[in-house]
Amino acid sequence: MRRITALTLRDIRSYEAFEARLSGRSVVITGPNGAGKTNILETLTLFGAGRGLRGAKLSDVVRHGAGGAPGAAITLSAEDEEPMRLVVSVVPPRYDRREVRIDGEVVKSAGTLSELIRFLWMTPAMDRLFMDAPSERRRFLDRIAAAGSSGHAIIAGRYEKAMKQRMALLEQGGDPSLLTHFEREMADAGIALSMARRETAESLAAGYEALRQEAFPRATVFIEGDVELLLAEHGEEQARDRFAERLARNRRIDRDARRTIIGPHRSDLVVTHEGKQMPARQCSTGEQKALLTGLVLARAQAAKERGEGTLVLLLDEIVAHLDETRREALAETLHGLGLQAFLTGTDPDAFAPFLAHMDHLRPDQGGKVSNPQDS
Ligand SMILES: Nc1ncnc2c1ncn2[C@@H]1O[C@H](COP(=O)(O)OP(=O)(O)O)[C@@H](O)[C@H]1O
Ligand SMILES: [Mg+2]
Repeated sequence: MRRITALTLRDIRSYEAFEARLSGRSVVITGPNGAGKTNILETLTLFGAGRGLRGAKLSDVVRHGAGGAPGAAITLSAEDEEPMRLVVSVVPPRYDRREVRIDGEVVKSAGTLSELIRFLWMTPAMDRLFMDAPSERRRFLDRIAAAGSSGHAIIAGRYEKAMKQRMALLEQGGDPSLLTHFEREMADAGIALSMARRETAESLAAGYEALRQEAFPRATVFIEGDVELLLAEHGEEQARDRFAERLARNRRIDRDARRTIIGPHRSDLVVTHEGKQMPARQCSTGEQKALLTGLVLARAQAAKERGEGTLVLLLDEIVAHLDETRREALAETLHGLGLQAFLTGTDPDAFAPFLAHMDHLRPDQGGKVSNPQDS
C-alpha cells in the first residue's frame, strides 16, 4: 500500500505556496473556518480521475491572482519501492486542462493514474444525499465503484460518449447504420457499467462483515433502473441486445425529448437502514450520516481487499456530528482499515481518539506537521 508522504501546493485555491512532509500515516487537519482545510482535500483529488471533491471547474481551483503555472505535487511511498513523485499542473492561460507527470514523464490517460492512486470522499454536501436528486446518488455510486476499480471511470466515460454521439446524430437526422453503431456501443458500455455498479453494491455486505464494527449501521443497497431490470430478467447477453433494441425503437422519442429516456444514466441508488428496515431518506439526519459513513467504510474495506492500487479516504468535517462513541469507533475502524485517511475539523479536541496514531496538520500555522513520534 502506497502512502502520501509529501504534499506541495502552488497557486491552488487559498494557497500561494504550501508544503508539508507527512509520516505516511493518516492525517488530521484542523483550523478555523476558511483556514484551507477542504482546499487541501480538494487538491488531493486533482490526482484522481474525473471531477474533484467540490465538483468544481479546474479554473476555479486556481488561486485568484495566480501567475505562472499553478499545480500540486505529492510523493507516494511504499516500503519496497523508490518514492514516486506525482505532479499535476493546471495549464495556462485558460486553466481548463491539467497535465500529469509521474517521475517527470507526462501521463496521457487518467487510467494510469487511477492504477496508482484513487480517492474516496465524504463531505458535508453529502449530508443530503438521500434526499437529493437521483443524479447525486448516481455520482456517489460511480465514485464508490471507481474506488475499487481503475477501469470504472473509463467504462462510464465510454457510455456517456456514445450517448452524446447518438444524440447529436439524432438531432441532425443522421445515418441509421451509424446510429445502430452508437446504440451497440451504448449497450456494451451501459451493461458493463450497470454490472460494475451491481458488483459494488454486492461488495458492501463483505465489507461490513470484515469491518466488524457496530457503531455505524448497515445499509442495504439496491440499484433501480430499466437496465438493471433487463439484467436481472435476462442475463448479460440478452440484456445487451434488448437494451440496444429499445434504444433503436426510441429514436423518435429520444430526439423529441432531447435526451435518452432509458439507460444506466437514469438509474437510482436505493438505500435502506438494514436494522430498522427503513428507507434512508426517512431516517433522521444523524442516522443518515451514520449510514453513509458506514457505507463508505464498508466500500473502502471491500475495495482494499481487491488489492488493486492505493485507496485514500478523505473525510471532510467528519467528526462534528459524531458523538463520543462513534468518534472512537471511527478512529478504531480507520486504524484497522490500514488505509491512509485525511480528516478535517475545526476543533482539535474532537480528534483526541485519532491523534494517537495520526499526523496533525494545521494549515493556518504553515506546513509543519506534528505526529505522535514527536511527543
Ligand atoms: N480560487 C481561489 N483563490 C483564492 N482563494 C480561494 C479560492 N477558492 C477559495 N478560496 C478561499 O479559500 C478559503 C476556503 O478554504 P477552505 O479550504 O474551504 O476552508 P476550510 O478550512 O473551512 O475548509 C476561503 O477563504 C476562500 O475565499
Ligand atoms: Mg471546509
